[in-house]
Order: sequence, then C-alpha cells, then structure tokens
Amino acid sequence: MIIDYIYFVSILKIAKLGHPVLVKKTNNIKDLASINIKKIVLDMSETMLDANGIGLAAPQVHLTHKMFIYRNPDIEEGDKVKISVLINPIIEKITDDTEDDWEACLSIPGMSGLVRRFKSIKYEALDLNGNKIFGEVEGLHARVIQHEFDHLNGILYTSRLAHKSAFGFTEEIEKFWKKNNEEK
Ligand code: NI
Repeated sequence: MIIDYIYFVSILKIAKLGHPVLVKKTNNIKDLASINIKKIVLDMSETMLDANGIGLAAPQVHLTHKMFIYRNPDIEEGDKVKISVLINPIIEKITDDTEDDWEACLSIPGMSGLVRRFKSIKYEALDLNGNKIFGEVEGLHARVIQHEFDHLNGILYTSRLAHKSAFGFTEEIEKFWKKNNEEK
C-alpha cells in the first residue's frame, strides 16, 4: 500500500523559554527542494492552531531554518483561517513611529508583555514555491511579523518590553493592567 506522507500531519513539540534553540540565529534556506518545506509548514500550521497561536517560527519547533508562519489578519474573514509563510524574510521599518501593545508567545505560555514595535514595516521573502513576495503592512500584521522575525534571530519579546514591569502572568496582567487601562 502506498500512502502519501502529506496526509500525515504531526503536532510538533514547542520549545519553551530556556531552551537554547530559542536564542540561536537561524540559517537561510538555500534550496527549498532540499528540505520537505511543505511538510514542515503543514506540521507547523497544525501545531500553531492546536496551541491557539497566531504565529510560529521554526526555532519554536526546534528547527534552525529561517522561516515562520502566521495567521494573516488582513485576509482572514469570519471563521476562515489563512496562514501565511515567509521564508528567508528581510524586514525594514517604514517609519520610526512605534506602538505599544500586549503580546504573548507560545514559547512563554501563560505570560504576556507590553511590547514596543514599529507601526509599519515592509518585508521581502520567498513563498512556499520559492517565488519572491513583498509587502507593506501595519498594525497587528506588522506586529506579528516583527515578533516572528525576531525569533529567527534568537530574540524573544521579553527583550523588547515597553516597560520593565509590563510583563507577567496573563491572568494578573488582565487584572491589573488591562482593566486599569480601559478605565482611564
Ligand atoms: Ni513567539
């Protein structure tokens, strides 16, 4: 019996804060055909959705490839999930303007931090088929890409906090930070 491997999607183990793979730099993927990139993307997608995440970078599943996936907020409609893949990405800020907002990370479960990011960025990358793709994005879309891109350089959001104290267990953050901000 011949079974196409593509039908077997695996949920991968997510590396947690403290694992050295999370602070390592990744390597450009030189030849897309040399690794089973489609299988990696399928497995990472399944892993991200299972964990209720909106982005997942290769180091988070113990891989050293320069690539990440994320749920694309600009093209999702209703319940439809749309996942984008950026391979060998390069990003650049469009403006110096920054914005602070709460972030979480599947590698730091249960915690949240207020993170400063550029409001808008442009990116260049390869898609799953090796074609060059470009984009200019802002808001949540720009934030997710900056967060995932940092993972490829071994940087976690905890080193980009807007205030040292604006980090902690999501439960406490909800209680003491978010509610107070809403009331202001
Ligand atoms: Ni993360």
